[in-house]
Amino acid sequence: MIEMTLDKLPRKVLARIDLQTAFMVSQCVLVAENIGLFRILEDKSLTLSVIRRKTGIRSWKLESFLAVLGVLGLVVRRGDTYNNSRLASKYYVKERPIEWTRFYSETCFLDYADYSVLKETLLTGKSNIELLGIKREGYVEYMRRDKHAAHDFTRMLYHDHLRDAELLSKNLDLTGYNNILDLGGGSGVMSIALVRKYKFVKACVLDIEPVIKVTKKIIKEHGLTKRITTLAGDMHKHIPEGYDVIMLCDADSSKDTLKNVYQSLDTGGMVVIVDNFSSEDLTKPLFRLLWQLRSNSPWLMTLKQAKEQLQEAGFRSIRQKKLYGCTWMLTGLKR
Ligand SMILES: C[S@@+](CC[C@H](N)C(=O)[O-])C[C@H]1O[C@@H](n2cnc3c(N)ncnc32)[C@H](O)[C@@H]1O
Repeated sequence: MIEMTLDKLPRKVLARIDLQTAFMVSQCVLVAENIGLFRILEDKSLTLSVIRRKTGIRSWKLESFLAVLGVLGLVVRRGDTYNNSRLASKYYVKERPIEWTRFYSETCFLDYADYSVLKETLLTGKSNIELLGIKREGYVEYMRRDKHAAHDFTRMLYHDHLRDAELLSKNLDLTGYNNILDLGGGSGVMSIALVRKYKFVKACVLDIEPVIKVTKKIIKEHGLTKRITTLAGDMHKHIPEGYDVIMLCDADSSKDTLKNVYQSLDTGGMVVIVDNFSSEDLTKPLFRLLWQLRSNSPWLMTLKQAKEQLQEAGFRSIRQKKLYGCTWMLTGLKR
């Protein structure tokens, strides 16, 4: 999946965007994406009245809204009809599944609300939650409460992690191992890539129940039900035994979890972590820093800290391998 980063925009469009007011541009794109405008305009030239009907937009501002998207090179107007530009079609329709459109745009709105009180959080030290006066649930609670969110998240993450999965299967040597437990395994995308490469390997994806319902379908779609099983559970409460590989890919690899993983893993077994890490001086990458600013507790972790945690949990022969950017694979053995 390719993200619509600013480098995809023509220079003449970029030249019109001022960094201090870029949030207005961003909101227009976000709203267009969230109400499904780009999907409505895909392969169709529609008049304002049809767009009104299909999107539910009632405001007299619709024309200006479409004009902004036009200036950004996302919507093309011909006479009194509008349709997608090639850019919008590629990045907002063809390159992303509908689940990505729905789940990601909703979380962007939450981020936007958090960022609306950035100044106050910096000056007062209070959390966004306190300042906004709202209760904010984590994404796991959200998915536990709302099966549609669990569906969209799991399908979205399948696409989002295809590249990680491919690189994991290229870089992880599973010779001599048979049985993987994919903790917080989500869509199972990592396990799918590994069992495809290693014909002797079986995997079990453990995740919360609403996610596992979707994972089962994905595994069936790939024809892998004989080699990948699923388990609905809570990895913070119980990690099953009987596995010689335990994976944590973009899943909680805190000290406590690693200690529990160590306890449950077979002797001679391997733990595998795939995650993004911050630079040693905590100044990169940008997206992690931006997440830290909207978060209410410090969580940035460096590769060195992650390796120390593995060591502390009891793992030995700890190895690291860069997959791409700030995404690394770490492995450790239980002797
Ligand atoms: C960011 S996703 C990564 C999914 C998958 N490992 C991948 O790489 O695509 C983290 C996953 O951990 C799961 N998770 C979070 N807390 C959990 C818990 N207590 N028990 C089981 N799974 C949990 C979430 O439901 C989610 O599917």
